[in-house]
Amino acid sequence: MLKGTFPVEKFKQLSTPFYYYDMQLLQQTLDVVKAESGKYGYHVHFAIKANANPRLLALIAKNGLGADCVSGGEVRAALDAGFPANKIVFAGVGKADWEINLGLDNDIFCFNVESLAELEVINELAAAKQKVASIALRINPEVDAHTHAKITTGMKENKFGINLSQLASVTDRLAEMKHVRLIGIHCHIGSQITDMSAFRNLTIRINEIQDDLAAKGIVVENLNFGGGLGIDYYHPNHLSIPSFDNYFAAVHSLLQLRPGQQVHFEPGRSIVAQCGTLISRVLYVKEGETKKFAILDAGFTELIRPAMYDAYHRIENISSDEPVELYDVVGPICESSDVFGKEVELNKAHRGDFLALRSAGAYGEVMASQYNCRKLPFAYYSDEL
Ligand code: LLP
Repeated sequence: MLKGTFPVEKFKQLSTPFYYYDMQLLQQTLDVVKAESGKYGYHVHFAIKANANPRLLALIAKNGLGADCVSGGEVRAALDAGFPANKIVFAGVGKADWEINLGLDNDIFCFNVESLAELEVINELAAAKQKVASIALRINPEVDAHTHAKITTGMKENKFGINLSQLASVTDRLAEMKHVRLIGIHCHIGSQITDMSAFRNLTIRINEIQDDLAAKGIVVENLNFGGGLGIDYYHPNHLSIPSFDNYFAAVHSLLQLRPGQQVHFEPGRSIVAQCGTLISRVLYVKEGETKKFAILDAGFTELIRPAMYDAYHRIENISSDEPVELYDVVGPICESSDVFGKEVELNKAHRGDFLALRSAGAYGEVMASQYNCRKLPFAYYSDEL
């Protein structure tokens, strides 16, 4: 079976489990992002929630991208990694006062505001500092992203964003506020979206929202389409860079821009997923009555996506070329959901073999936990081993 290329000899010196990042692939991905977004002058803010590893953030910042943050901790991580404050956008339904103050003190580019209640607080906190906060309204565009229920966000019943039906009352109230300035509208419809028609539908909806706002005399300078571009979890070896060309073109082909408007995106997964792999050793091969289990030293504490979203991650035995057999690949955590895959085709596995859990660079390391008193995973980088 076709497998990724990994420095297995070097891995033998290291204790597992750990994340391994292919920094060359990350750079190639960033080159494509810059080239494709650059065709239309679009601004790209990396969604830090996908991966806050400082080495990755530093490389992404060095390539000139902005940052999309959803907490004060992420705003700090972005600033520490070298993202300029004027390229930081800050979303999140529950921003605490200290988090808003952190954004205000650093003069970040924009707060993506998710409710009228939040807007009132930003206005008050900015007034106390005699500042004017730049804000975008996060609107719930009611566009179906056709993705997993736990990662879809743009429909009406979500906790995120302001419903279309309430937009007019929010903009009316906004007009009375002296310490916030409306600079944009923002939408995010979900994650792991592979059907470009969802982004086309979003673009059409943004055109409509713009028309409604224009009828009230409101024209904003910035349009933010959020993130959500999906990746190919099944073919990490040949489709390692997502189709950023189709993604930006889907928006560009339909978007009715008004003079001077700037367009922003917040991709996370599509930038970092394929460069990251979780490397684990097989602890035991357990022969059941009807099946075999490969029991790993990594569990959902290191990669929670399969347990949490039934997500598929391709698993490769990078230590063996023996004939393929079927295994249930499981972790050591004391929970029956600690399963990475059932009936997985692996080259015959032995104690000590390295298994690679692919496409784990997004929402992998950053979602790790210490459940069962486990240690957080280490990370190694292709340019340092
Ligand atoms: N912007 C906003 C407002 C978001 O809520 C998100 C993701 C993004 C951008 C980045 O989306 P991306 O380009 O990465 O799809 N833990 C889940 C994914 C949760 C996504 C949450 N929001 C997973 O492992 O699949």
